[in-house]
Amino acid sequence: MRAIGIDIGGTKIAGAVVDEFGEILRSERRPSPAGDPVLMEQTIVEMINSLAEGEEIAAAGVAAAGFIDAAQSSVYYAPNINWRNEPLREKLEKRVSVPVIIENDANAAGWAEFRFGAGRLVSDMVMLTIGTGVGGAIVADDRLLRGGFGAGAELGHLRIVPGGLACGCGQHGCIEQYGSGRALLRLANEIADAGGIGQALASAREAAGALDGGIVGSLIAQRDPGAVAALRQLGHWIGQAAASLSAVLDPQLFVIGGGVAASGDLLIEPIRASYLDHLPARGYHPEPDFVIAELVNDAGVVGAADLARIYVGDHR
Ligand code: BGC
Ligand code: NA
Ligand code: ZN
Repeated sequence: MRAIGIDIGGTKIAGAVVDEFGEILRSERRPSPAGDPVLMEQTIVEMINSLAEGEEIAAAGVAAAGFIDAAQSSVYYAPNINWRNEPLREKLEKRVSVPVIIENDANAAGWAEFRFGAGRLVSDMVMLTIGTGVGGAIVADDRLLRGGFGAGAELGHLRIVPGGLACGCGQHGCIEQYGSGRALLRLANEIADAGGIGQALASAREAAGALDGGIVGSLIAQRDPGAVAALRQLGHWIGQAAASLSAVLDPQLFVIGGGVAASGDLLIEPIRASYLDHLPARGYHPEPDFVIAELVNDAGVVGAADLARIYVGDHR
């Protein structure tokens, strides 16, 4: 049976009707009212109801960027959205006609890659989504690992720098502060300030007033040395974190997704190099693959829909 997937991002909310093969049959997109929880709820309700119209739907999965409970009902905490112990499922179920589950956004994307994308052929994979924040998904032994309280696989909050930069989770030195899209902008600004290879970044910043993801992304695509250097620093941090993850989870595959993954091989290459430099049992431990996500922008909705269908017990 078909299911609905909703993926809440910082700038847009994507929604789709997805079949049991991960194919998107209908989709919708709306701007994300990220700062306004009431309007956010209203928008999700409208999207689920409009997507469900005239369809037979098993369930709806809502992918959200936060720590989710084991019952897949509440958002314990969202570092970049104003949700604290938010009973999202209960609120939504009152206003829509299908069962709802809440899923972590990166878990949803990782599950989609495992089922229908880059991870189809492995039993153990780790996905890192590099966007506004850094998200994580762990598939271990063919299962999505959620942890005892539901909030496991929060890989963006692995501490890699003791006493490092403050993070939205309340701690310091998390990989999210060194390996996210926001971190890329910070690194790019530092390189622009330093002059030298930062010249193109500095002039782009002056012309636009500030650097943003689009500007840095297009400079990376043009192989501007300053922008590429910022990306390489980001990759260096992500690779270190991946090496530690190998010590815990030993995946055959790392999938890199999120907006910054549009840089493709330019991002994979420094991640892999830094991973190999920091890998325990280096030279003897088998080397996992590092690939860019295949489902790109659709991973969140596809994974959320599939997990919702599994949750309600409909495997048809
Ligand atoms: C949140 C995660 C989320 C990630 C990517 C992090 O800050 O803690 O729950 O998966 O951002 O959106
Ligand atoms: Na996660
Ligand atoms: Zn953190």
